[in-house]
Amino acid sequence: MSKKVRVTETVLRDAHQSLLATRMTIDDMLPILGKLNEVGFNSIECWGGATFDACLRFLNEDPWERLRTLRREMPDTRLQMLFRGQNMLGYRHYADDVLEEFVQKSVENGIDVIRIFDALNDIRNLQTAINAAKKASRDGKKPEVQVAMSFTTGEVFTTEYYVEYAKRIAKAGADSICIKDMAALLTPYKTAELVKAIKDAVDLPVNLHTHYTSGLASMCLIKGVEAGADIIDTAMSPLALGTSHAPTESMVAAFQGTEYDTGLDLVLLNEIRGYFMELRKKYIESGLIDQKMLAADAGALIYQVPGGMLSNLLSQLKQAGKEDLLNDVLAEVPRVRADAGFPPLVTPSSQIVGTQAVFNVLTGERYKTVTKEFKGIVRGEYGQTPVPIDPEFRKKIIGDAEPIDCRPADLLEPELEKLRKECAEWAESEEDVLSYAQFGQVAVKFFEKRRDAKFGLDGKHGDAANGVHPV
Ligand code: CO
Repeated sequence: MSKKVRVTETVLRDAHQSLLATRMTIDDMLPILGKLNEVGFNSIECWGGATFDACLRFLNEDPWERLRTLRREMPDTRLQMLFRGQNMLGYRHYADDVLEEFVQKSVENGIDVIRIFDALNDIRNLQTAINAAKKASRDGKKPEVQVAMSFTTGEVFTTEYYVEYAKRIAKAGADSICIKDMAALLTPYKTAELVKAIKDAVDLPVNLHTHYTSGLASMCLIKGVEAGADIIDTAMSPLALGTSHAPTESMVAAFQGTEYDTGLDLVLLNEIRGYFMELRKKYIESGLIDQKMLAADAGALIYQVPGGMLSNLLSQLKQAGKEDLLNDVLAEVPRVRADAGFPPLVTPSSQIVGTQAVFNVLTGERYKTVTKEFKGIVRGEYGQTPVPIDPEFRKKIIGDAEPIDCRPADLLEPELEKLRKECAEWAESEEDVLSYAQFGQVAVKFFEKRRDAKFGLDGKHGDAANGVHPV
């Protein structure tokens, strides 16, 4: 029986988010899209997460226009996005009506696979997004709804914990499950154990997503596939390794001639490699890729904190002139995390726990100073933590404030109408309203630049110096 492995290519999203701060432009992508379309990937991840933000904030690109272009240029390939559940692509919880509209518009504009996750693994923060994705369609075709579990380590996060979560994900209506190891904490044997346990418990395809940071990703993928994983995430080799993913071509080669053979054409992939090699050179020369990001670093496995979090802690201590306290802070992190109900350490919980640990050490007294965000997580503003928070500790942190034990978005009034009114001056489409909903003033600045360009006020057309503009 063939156990053909399917490959999701991440070069248009996670790979450049991991290596070059998400700065790949649509112009950099365009010349190679036709070839990428021919490969026969399970899907190409290309949208959502930071790409949307970077388009508006840094690249002066309409993220929706980018999606439609990708759709047009890769008609035979499923396009995939990453979606932070009730946070959508922004940094707060949104009301259900905005979320539902966003999911439908994403599908309408070209998305075929929606990968949804929540930082706390609180299924309630995912249910509205799952339901909306199941309802959405483009030309009568429904998207695949994939739910990702945020993988982390710590005494609570046993294989049983993930099996239980996988069962809840299946019950919530997901079409597939992703093990999302953003911090590269998986080891090959742990991967095998986890994949096997999940496959035994639920009847859904399992997609393995792990980063190369600690140098283990390709080993994890092999062991994961042998244990039953159906889909692996990889990146074209010039933008693989380091904090990115295992190289696509190498993984395809690794499975060639075995029962797991991906069936993908290495010669075609090699042509595509040539194109991305030129881009890599350009990004290194311009400084967009920092060579440091390309080296394997197993430090994450020693400290059990994601690499990005470690560098944040160090920079916070440097600012205070207390770099020598790093070991004290690293010892304090697990204690703060335990107090906060063992959140997985990903955005935003990694920043919240890290900053609080720094304060606890710097002030010399635990919780003498408490950040607003730490109060928020303890109060339940981000959802349910994996372990309930001790009521006495909660009282100490939030005083008489009312704890939140319902789904946080249940406390939000519908807000789509209000958002439409707020941005009526600039918005030219419902998609614009959704950009504004998530990125507020950043979106407004983009709309203004777009309008200026349209009327020749951007200095590129007409005689800007003399104030003469074509009308
Ligand atoms: Co990732």
